[in-house]
Amino acid sequence: MFSNRDSLPIGQGQPVTSRLPSLLRVLATLVVAALLVGACGGEYPQSSIDPKTDFAETIHHLYRLVFIWSMVILGLVWAVLAYVLVRFRERPGGARPRQTHGNLRMEIAWTIGPALIVVAIAVPTIHAVFTTQQGDPEGAMVVDVIGHQFWWEFRYPDTDVVTANELHLPVGRPVSLRIHSADVIHSFWVPMLGGKRDANPLVVRPEGDPPKYNWLHFTVREPGEYMGQCAEFCGSSHSLMGMRVIAESPGEFEAWLDDWRTSAPTEEPSPTAQELPAGLDSALVEQGREIFHSQTCVACHSIQGTNAQGQVAPNLTLLGRRTTIAAGWLDNSVEDLQRWIHAPRDVKPGALMPGVGEEGGNWPATGLTDEQVRAVAQYLFSLR
Ligand code: CUA
Repeated sequence: MFSNRDSLPIGQGQPVTSRLPSLLRVLATLVVAALLVGACGGEYPQSSIDPKTDFAETIHHLYRLVFIWSMVILGLVWAVLAYVLVRFRERPGGARPRQTHGNLRMEIAWTIGPALIVVAIAVPTIHAVFTTQQGDPEGAMVVDVIGHQFWWEFRYPDTDVVTANELHLPVGRPVSLRIHSADVIHSFWVPMLGGKRDANPLVVRPEGDPPKYNWLHFTVREPGEYMGQCAEFCGSSHSLMGMRVIAESPGEFEAWLDDWRTSAPTEEPSPTAQELPAGLDSALVEQGREIFHSQTCVACHSIQGTNAQGQVAPNLTLLGRRTTIAAGWLDNSVEDLQRWIHAPRDVKPGALMPGVGEEGGNWPATGLTDEQVRAVAQYLFSLR
C-alpha cells in the first residue's frame, strides 16, 4: 500500500489554485453545518433537557455533569490527536520512525483512566437513582395512573374524579403517581417532568402482600402544558398513546377538582335544563343520548350519574371539557368525535372500540347511520 510513498509526498507540489476549491468546500460545509444547527431551535414540547420538576432536575443535573466531563475528555483526546498528527506526520526524506511493541506504563494508564471515568459517572448516577426512588414525600397528592391499550387513565383517589389522557396537577405541591397497567406493560413518560416509569399489570401476589405499583414522586415547578408519550412498546398504536399534563396553580387546580365534582351529574340531567354549547342541536343531542345509553357503549364507558358504568374504556364524564380525544391525537370537536365513532381504528390501529362497519374488541360493529353517529358525537360533546 505504501510502496510508492517516496514518489508521492503528501501535501507537497500541489499548486495553490487547486487548493482553492477545497477551501470553498470547507466554507460551504461550515455554512451548511451552521444552518443545520440553526434549524435545531424552536419549541420542543417533549424535550428531556428542559426540566420542570425536582425529579427531572436531578436527572438533568446528572446529564449535564456527564456531558460536560465527556466534552472535556473529548477536547483532550482531540488536542492530543492533533498534536500527534502534526508532530509525527511523515515528512519528505524523513527517517523511518522507531518501531515499538507494547508499553506497560501506557497500558496501565489507559486501563485505569477509563475505570476512573466509569467510577466518576457511577457515583452520581447511583446517588440520583436513590434520590428519585425515595418514598412518598410528606403530604404528597396521590394520583393513580393506569395504562391501557392505547390510552391513559387518571384517577384521583378519595374523589370520583376520573379523566383520560389529560392529567391535571397542581404546581408547587408534591405529587406521587401510583402507576400500573390494565393490560400489557406501558411506560409513563412526560420528559419535562422526569424520566420514564413502567406501568406494569398488577399480577397476583401471595395473600397478604400489597399490590406492587411503580411510583413517581415529584413537584411541578412551573405551570404549563407538558406532553407525554407511552415509552414501552405495547402494540400497534403504541406510538399514538400520548397524554398531556396540565399543571396549574394550586388555586386553579382545586377549582378544577371542585368544578369536576360539582358539575359531574349525580343523575341523568333533564334535557330541558341543560345548556348546550353553541352549534349543538338539542334534538340531536337527545337522540344521541338515547342511542348511547341503549347501545353497547355503556358496557365499556362510564358517564357519572347515568346507566353507563363500564370500566374498561375511557370515562366520558364531562368529556366536552377535554381539549383532545383519542389519547391526544384528535381535537375534541363534534367532527373529530364523529370520525372516531365512525371508524376508531382508522385513527388508532388496534383500538378496542367497534366502529360503524367493523367489530372491535369483543363487540360487533355498531351499524349506526351517519345521522346516528352525528347524534352520539353531539351528545358526548354536550357533556360538560
Ligand atoms: Cu402503551 Cu406503548
